[in-house]
Amino acid sequence: MDRFRITGGKPLEGTVRISGAKNAALPTMAAALLTAEPVHLKNIPRVRDIITMGQLIAHTNARVETPDVPPTDLTIEARNITDAEAPYELVRTMRASILMLGPLVARLGHARVSLPGGCAIGARPVDLHIKALEQMGAEISTEHGYVTAHVPGGRLHGAEIRFEKITVTGTENILMAASLAEGETHLESAAREPEVTDLIEVLIKMGARIEGAGTSTLVVRGVERLGGASHTIIPDRIEAGTFVVAGAISGGEIEVTNCKPEHIRAVLAKLCEMGVDIEAAGPDRLRVRGAKKLTAIHVTTEEYPGFATDMQAQVMALATQAQGSSEFVETIFENRYMHASEMTRMGADITIDGRKAVVRGPTPLEGTTVIASDLRASASLVLAGLIARGETIVDRVYHIDRGYERIEEKLSRLGARIERLR
Ligand code: EPU
Repeated sequence: MDRFRITGGKPLEGTVRISGAKNAALPTMAAALLTAEPVHLKNIPRVRDIITMGQLIAHTNARVETPDVPPTDLTIEARNITDAEAPYELVRTMRASILMLGPLVARLGHARVSLPGGCAIGARPVDLHIKALEQMGAEISTEHGYVTAHVPGGRLHGAEIRFEKITVTGTENILMAASLAEGETHLESAAREPEVTDLIEVLIKMGARIEGAGTSTLVVRGVERLGGASHTIIPDRIEAGTFVVAGAISGGEIEVTNCKPEHIRAVLAKLCEMGVDIEAAGPDRLRVRGAKKLTAIHVTTEEYPGFATDMQAQVMALATQAQGSSEFVETIFENRYMHASEMTRMGADITIDGRKAVVRGPTPLEGTTVIASDLRASASLVLAGLIARGETIVDRVYHIDRGYERIEEKLSRLGARIERLR
């Protein structure tokens, strides 16, 4: 299992280019299953989850092609889908595999997708995806760890759907399913994340009829057939936010390029409130300077456009260096403070009480061996390692490889002393 060795204390300097968004690329790849024609995607990040999604798609016998140059392009051609199954061996490594369900049911009238199960950050059920597809006419059973869906008559129909809780991949699944369903689907309390909007853009290019992009009410008028499309995936807002924190925590000065600052407005506002100096250096570029003194903050994670749960851990690493008591309230996932105990082992003063975390700072951090428990927690431990005294070993970095494209190379280019140990 790979590990990172980080020697802390070096202010970062230079420029880092943000990759395409993993969480936009995954649903977009799944959407390619809705058509027999090729879908060309650009700005695909080279991360483990994308490889897993490619394998899931290839398992259906669709063609997945990655030309060597440029390596961030991907073509998917689902001319003949002969297998409507997403097997456990692949699904267990990536919860987003549930995104196979909507497109397969819509295109073939049946599907068998392994249940993803829980993960380090919470139980993460998929009941809302299932309920909505049932409303659209699918008969669904969950047995032997698999969701098996069958549509009598073969074609889903439109429905009035209101999610009890806002769900990102749930919204994406229903958007894809409704695009090929018969009649109109009204989706209330839809997720408004930029990744959902990016998926809507691709679906519209493929011929889908969707109104309300960027709002919580979406109307989809189903069509009989969708066609091919070409699309460039939006930049990864969470990778961008992570590097902004890296610049800030190291006390250096960096530029983060190829990003969309408007997608992380809530995060940037909090960082500015802490005293981090952030300015737009162009429409897709941010300049970040670390502050001499950071102030404590209150963060409550929310659905977009609120403060993203996927940035909570990284900002907590920064809060260990702020003057006073910072408070975090995690409202999206019930167990997303796994990084806190590892940071405490590095010298942070963090108390957890249910969904609330209080960080008292500033506390110097010390290098030690820490274990990454999920993707964003791993990123926060790398950030803590950048300022820790001495050497930090971050174990189980396969979590970070799932969603960050060669983070150690990008950080090294900014001057960080980080290396991968195999
Ligand atoms: N939920 C249910 N039932 C459902 C679906 C969701 O109770 O059927 C609950 C979840 O347990 C959670 C809340 O609703 O408490 C929101 O979950 P959501 O469905 O929105 O999460 P997701 O779609 O599984 C996506 C991202 C996550 C990100 C969340 C929240 C992808 C592939 N994943 O997950 O990204 O944290 O939205 O913004 O888009 C990551 O990249 O590290 C990551 C975990």
